Amino acid sequence: MSTSRLALAGGRPAVPPGAFGRRPVVTGRERRSINAFLNRPDFGVGLAASARPSNLLAGQWADYLGVKHCLAVNSGTAALHMCIAALDIGPGDEVIVPALTFWASAAAVLHHNAIPVFVDVEPRTFGMDPAKIEASITPFTKAIMPVHLHGMPAEMGKILKIARKHGLKVISDACQAHGSQYKGRKIGAIEDAAGFSMEVSKPLSSGSEGGLFVTNNDLTFERAKMLRQFGERIIPGRKREYNAFGVGWNYRISEFGAVFGLAQLERLDTTTRKRRRCCDMISSGLKQLKGVKPPFTPADRDPVYFNYVVEFSPADAGVDMEARPFRECMEKALRSEGVPMGTWQNIPVPAQAVFLKKNAYGKGCPWKCQHYRGSVSYRPEDYPETLRFLESHSYLGPFGGKIVPETRELAERCLEGFHKVFDNLDRVLALLNPAQKGKRATA
Ligand SMILES: Cc1ncc(COP(=O)(O)O)c(C=O)c1O
Repeated sequence: MSTSRLALAGGRPAVPPGAFGRRPVVTGRERRSINAFLNRPDFGVGLAASARPSNLLAGQWADYLGVKHCLAVNSGTAALHMCIAALDIGPGDEVIVPALTFWASAAAVLHHNAIPVFVDVEPRTFGMDPAKIEASITPFTKAIMPVHLHGMPAEMGKILKIARKHGLKVISDACQAHGSQYKGRKIGAIEDAAGFSMEVSKPLSSGSEGGLFVTNNDLTFERAKMLRQFGERIIPGRKREYNAFGVGWNYRISEFGAVFGLAQLERLDTTTRKRRRCCDMISSGLKQLKGVKPPFTPADRDPVYFNYVVEFSPADAGVDMEARPFRECMEKALRSEGVPMGTWQNIPVPAQAVFLKKNAYGKGCPWKCQHYRGSVSYRPEDYPETLRFLESHSYLGPFGGKIVPETRELAERCLEGFHKVFDNLDRVLALLNPAQKGKRATA
């Protein structure tokens, strides 16, 4: 029971200003690596393919996951687009995507003229709900794209089983899930292909923009290689032919980003372990409080906590309030205690304008493209669990690019912030929302 004065009432915040670091963590290792790279005598066009940081990074990431092939690219979106294209998914095809994700998962599908079909998420882990997938499969479906949101692996066993039954490919959007595991196997190693982001805030950061494409399939890898570089076959050591076999992009990663990423990869497991320990500590502390629920981790998953997400429940707190205003009050009170809480996205992806208008790049395409013979509708109300998540859940950390706690001391201070707010809920609500005073159902 916290008896210290609420910051909202003029008390000292539980978490002092400046206690949270900002993403990404930069150490001497990154600085030394970038300098050493610049100082190489063969720096620039003289750098042999085998010495390029992008190729070293790809090799190390493949080893880390235990996959056969990896390509370093310039974004997670590029990596996902390569998954779609390299698996021969294109005009007229449908891909099943969760309604709760960053929209780049669906954009990667649209980039190759295919159609995203959304399914709702499972209410405890917020991954695609396997129970809702089969109802969305049509004769046009080619793949399922689970997203391992917040670093929590989706229910891969069931998803892979459904895919096998219907002859579909599985593509992981692992943009937030570097090193996370499902039943002891790393995400990225158990699908047909997967894409990771190395955008500046990600667990494996390039310090700028970047991504990683992975697959175990030789043909998929060969196709992805061409897509990464202008649709050409570019073979190290051989004279370039300048002959495109189809459309391709320039999805190559900056070598500087790859150098930064290599330095980050050296300590990925250490930082993940620290973050997990801190999140577990916060979670067990939150279990003692009424009105805030820690994230749920099934026994068969090892999440990496790219973000730490809690649910605010007015009903559990015995408060007669709707979920959203209650969440907003709790976020405000916690932020005043120095705990950086807030929301990420506000609407399901299928509620975004591009889907409501069904116009991605003009003339109603790809929905009106001649190859598409299906029909898909995008209605936000079809995704009640996604809507419920958006009303009632809040993120610890990402605001101003804050790092999810990696030290015991910061985790303890955050917990103290939660205690201050939830042990004094009547007072908090009175301070923030006087209309609610005396409205507690079970105070
Ligand atoms: C779930 C998800 N998918 C895809 C992406 C796209 O990654 P990038 O920003 O590197 O293109 C992100 C990045 O934020 C993401 O969080």
